[in-house]
Amino acid sequence: MFPDVRLRRLRQSAAIRRILDAPLPGPEKFMWPTFVIEGEGKREAIDSMPGQYRLSIDELLRDLEPMAATGIGSIMLFGLTEDACKDHAGSEAWNENGTVQNAVRAVKKEYPDLIVAADACVCAYTDHGHCGPLTDKGAVDNDAAIDNLAKICVSHAAAGADIAAPSAMMDGQVQAIRAGLDQNGFNETILMSYSTKFASSMYGPFRDAEKSAPGQGDRKGYQASFGDLRTALRESAFDEAEGSDMLMIKPSLFYLDILARMREATDLPIAAYNVSGEYSMLHATAQRGWGDLKSMVQESTAALARAGADILISYWANQYNELFKD
Ligand code: PBG
Ligand code: ZN
Repeated sequence: MFPDVRLRRLRQSAAIRRILDAPLPGPEKFMWPTFVIEGEGKREAIDSMPGQYRLSIDELLRDLEPMAATGIGSIMLFGLTEDACKDHAGSEAWNENGTVQNAVRAVKKEYPDLIVAADACVCAYTDHGHCGPLTDKGAVDNDAAIDNLAKICVSHAAAGADIAAPSAMMDGQVQAIRAGLDQNGFNETILMSYSTKFASSMYGPFRDAEKSAPGQGDRKGYQASFGDLRTALRESAFDEAEGSDMLMIKPSLFYLDILARMREATDLPIAAYNVSGEYSMLHATAQRGWGDLKSMVQESTAALARAGADILISYWANQYNELFKD
């Protein structure tokens, strides 16, 4: 005890701290989520997410060049479609020549070593903005939704996606997708389900970016409740039992306790989705001069790694050199 033991000895200089501190996650741990649109030479800034854009495929390929050179491990693609292409089921989402499918093909051709995940959901493709077709009563029809999710993942796999990433939070989605992939010869495609995904108020900027907010109601009938820890954990356990290769927690900074619990409960890789609202929150703070962006990003990202995340799904990935290098 003090005065014989002095804990400050171990942190008295940058030179000793450098030796003792856990390293920040390297670029290979990052998965960059990004938004793809039709057309050429298109780059639409997303007001609520500084530094993020909706990109046409040619612009996406351009942005990926420095990121591939940095060694960013993976990306996750989200597509948008014109209002005219939206319908009740969101069938444009499994068009084999849809935006995401074309983007996957182009990215894998140009950057074969970059792991490409494709988000599978219909909320950006349905005319009502929910994550599956609706019943007469206006609830999402679970069993119809999972058949469609399987079609989406097969179309992504056929385009060359390495990872199928279903985000709809439907019961049985992992089982249905695994069966669909295997029946179509895609038994090598990795399945990373959004396994514990909460009905969160932190998705606002993303819904802005994707134009995917529900027209009526909310997603509380299918996404997990932050008030019910046990069911939230069962969601991940079920996805593991159904054959998901990786699990996910989303959002992540608000749910570090649950991430740590998942880390104890499973040996599967876990991805932490550092979501849009968590991203924009730090940007907004920095813009007001209330905090230093780089320090806040490093501290929060270290927390995700420490709590047990193997993969960081992070919008900071396209700014890795500025934010994570000294
Ligand atoms: C859609 C989806 C959402 C996100 C990823 N996929 C939004 C939602 O569920 O409404 C959120 C990602 C983010 O906020 O960064 N199924
Ligand atoms: Zn959705």
